[in-house]
Amino acid sequence: MASVNRDGEETYANINWDQLGFAPTPTDYMYMMKCSNGDNFSQSQGQLVRFGNIEISPFSAVLNYAQGLIEGLKAYRTEDGRVLLFRPYENAKRMQIGAQRLCLPFPSVEQFVDAVKQTAIANKHWVPPHGKGSLYLRPMLIGSGHVLGLAPAPECTFLIYATPMGNHYLTKHGAANLYIDDKLHRAARGGTGGIKCITNYSPVFEAVTQARARGFSDVLFLDAATGKYVEEVSSSNVFIVKGNVISTPPIDGTVLPGITRKSLMELALDMGYQVEERHIPVEDLMDADQVFCSGTAVVVTPVGSVTYQNTRAEYKTGEETVSNKLKAMLNGIQMGLIEDNKGWTLALD
Ligand SMILES: Cc1ncc(COP(=O)(O)O)c(C=O)c1O
Repeated sequence: MASVNRDGEETYANINWDQLGFAPTPTDYMYMMKCSNGDNFSQSQGQLVRFGNIEISPFSAVLNYAQGLIEGLKAYRTEDGRVLLFRPYENAKRMQIGAQRLCLPFPSVEQFVDAVKQTAIANKHWVPPHGKGSLYLRPMLIGSGHVLGLAPAPECTFLIYATPMGNHYLTKHGAANLYIDDKLHRAARGGTGGIKCITNYSPVFEAVTQARARGFSDVLFLDAATGKYVEEVSSSNVFIVKGNVISTPPIDGTVLPGITRKSLMELALDMGYQVEERHIPVEDLMDADQVFCSGTAVVVTPVGSVTYQNTRAEYKTGEETVSNKLKAMLNGIQMGLIEDNKGWTLALD
């Protein structure tokens, strides 16, 4: 569907919006800003450039030592055609915390949000029509400068690209079936599980690939120290529901502090649930009434089953679930259907 507004500008890119999935679709522009170590981008001026390959030295710290962070956030189109970003200030702050851990200089919160806005505006006709998906924005912060001895890069690049994304990550329309891998771990105490560094992702490929080959949607990881407690899924947080109580593992260095997680906890409290952050033994997970995952890509995805060793626990899914109510509320705010009295959405000018 390509359409044109009253001024003759194309309002939507010419793709089949009904077929939108998760394959990366190149859009028109990306944002780039560079800085040298020490100035934290305060002297830097970023700019939009045509989307395309970037040149990077084989000596760069990101290629040799994985000195890199990613973020992820979405822009949604409202029914009346406005475009809303969801909580970009939170992504900016999370990137700053990760940057300190990796000794990367980082953009200010204002620079980050301004860059995200510019990228979304430049690619506005790639924001899907209301209800058909979202424009996923991927900020990256990488050590692009030359190093050979083990040290932080002397130059760093902040880049943002954007790609349209469908609505149903992990599952087509139903619930996710998770597999607990008790041999491979995602994060250890004192490590980097709590930041969104690029090194956290390829180590889950083996477990996730094997689980998908066996028909599971994704892998749920346990804590590396004892193997007894639930941590998170490969790219989403996890919640369990028992009666009126919603529980999720605490943020203590091995679990990513998800922005969706934080938002859902607040919404659940508003809706009258009891919300707990606590260490969740696998037994409590297997004994839960309902389970769901949260994240920018999955939004809120119900979990239909969890398989641990030789046991498969099944959970209630469908209309009358906590996850369904939370998803309706969260998605309603993100898409401008429910009034945002929390100041979570940022409209593009
Ligand atoms: C490992 C991991 N956990 C949780 C999340 C959910 O975080 P958010 O809700 O901020 O997208 C993500 C996605 O960013 C992730 O990669």
